[in-house]
Amino acid sequence: MNASLAKPTLRPFLPQDAAVVAQIFRDAIEDLTGDDYDEAQRSAWMAGAADEASFAKRLAAQTTLLALRDGEPVGFVSLKGNDLLDMLYVRPEAAGEGVGTLLANAAETLARGRGAKILNVDASDTALPFFEKLGFKPQFRQSIALEGEWLANTKMAKALDAGSKSP
Ligand SMILES: CC(C)(COP(=O)(O)OP(=O)(O)OC[C@H]1O[C@@H](n2cnc3c(N)ncnc32)[C@H](O)[C@@H]1OP(=O)(O)O)[C@@H](O)C(=O)NCCC(=O)NCCS
Repeated sequence: MNASLAKPTLRPFLPQDAAVVAQIFRDAIEDLTGDDYDEAQRSAWMAGAADEASFAKRLAAQTTLLALRDGEPVGFVSLKGNDLLDMLYVRPEAAGEGVGTLLANAAETLARGRGAKILNVDASDTALPFFEKLGFKPQFRQSIALEGEWLANTKMAKALDAGSKSP
């Protein structure tokens, strides 16, 4: 991690962020997940943001936070309900600089604030080592059907009991 980089700021998702967030989603899948998912699988995954209005509606229905550096969005996270970290995507140019950790920790803090005892995530194969570093434990593998393609991921969970530290 580059210590000279300013820590990003966080703010809630706004409807006018739809296009930039959809772009981060597509770019992160395209550029960061190629070792784990083939082109057809990545296209199917990226299609989740093809209709930007529906994508924005999904994000607005959850608690969605953006990370900004120099005023520009560099990643986002969404918390569904109290205990599901649903989406976490970082701009490829900003990957490996701690943005994902900042966002995941913010989602964890929100979940704790809502009284969740556990935080769940369906981790992509790309993100599994990242979530393991944050203390999530693999539960089981699963495959989801998207646009006629099967994408494997791993259900992971982190206990948020009183003994565990808040990030
Ligand atoms: C997974 C993702 C969110 C990580 O974001 P990031 O900003 O690069 O993560 P950080 O910089 O905070 O990384 C924290 C640590 O995890 C490690 N890490 C991050 N991505 C990793 C990967 N793909 N493989 C192995 N380790 C990884 C980093 O090296 C870092 O380790 P360190 O603390 O020893 O330096 C980002 O790579 C991404 O958007 N991936 C594509 C989309 C995706 O799969 N999202 C998750 C859906 S469940």
